[in-house]
Amino acid sequence: MKHTLPELQFAPDALAPWTSAETIEFHHGKHHAGYVNKLNVAIENTDLGEKSLEEVIVAARRSNSSLYNLAAQHFNHGFFWNCLSAEKQEPDGQLAEFINRDFGSLETFKEQFAELALKHFGSGWVWLLQEEEGGKLVVRDFHDADTPAETDEKPLLTLDVWEHAYYIDYRNDRGKFIEGFWDHVNWEFAQSQMNK
Ligand code: FE2
Repeated sequence: MKHTLPELQFAPDALAPWTSAETIEFHHGKHHAGYVNKLNVAIENTDLGEKSLEEVIVAARRSNSSLYNLAAQHFNHGFFWNCLSAEKQEPDGQLAEFINRDFGSLETFKEQFAELALKHFGSGWVWLLQEEEGGKLVVRDFHDADTPAETDEKPLLTLDVWEHAYYIDYRNDRGKFIEGFWDHVNWEFAQSQMNK
């Protein structure tokens, strides 16, 4: 199947001033689009040409790192756009309950997530995941393109900490970028992933 760049569910300037339209246009329109285009070229005329994105990730994970990186980045970015909201939201329902159960409070969860995001060395992603066994929520950071997709842990929420996510707006100040993320988290989407 031909992989396609997902349309954003918000206008490019809807997240400003946290993330400018210019960043969104580069991040979505150049970086993410670049991964999708290269992914399509890489699988064309191969036995992965008709497979789903998830199947490509599984097939490439241990055997083809350049293909894995493209497929994983397509998944990670598609997931990331869904995690963003123009309007400020608060977690509720079962997600809020599990955050309190597993981190003690929403504030503690945010602190742990932000600390991982800030300390992550180089490019990567920070995720809120739900462990398969027992459904415990955990935060983990992943290097470069590495993805929790198709693992035993269910992805609920992510933040891209590659420099291309914030450099235009914040230069090297990743901390400021992380701080503003909380005003644009789509908690409704994270909750919907728990119930999948
Ligand atoms: Fe990115």
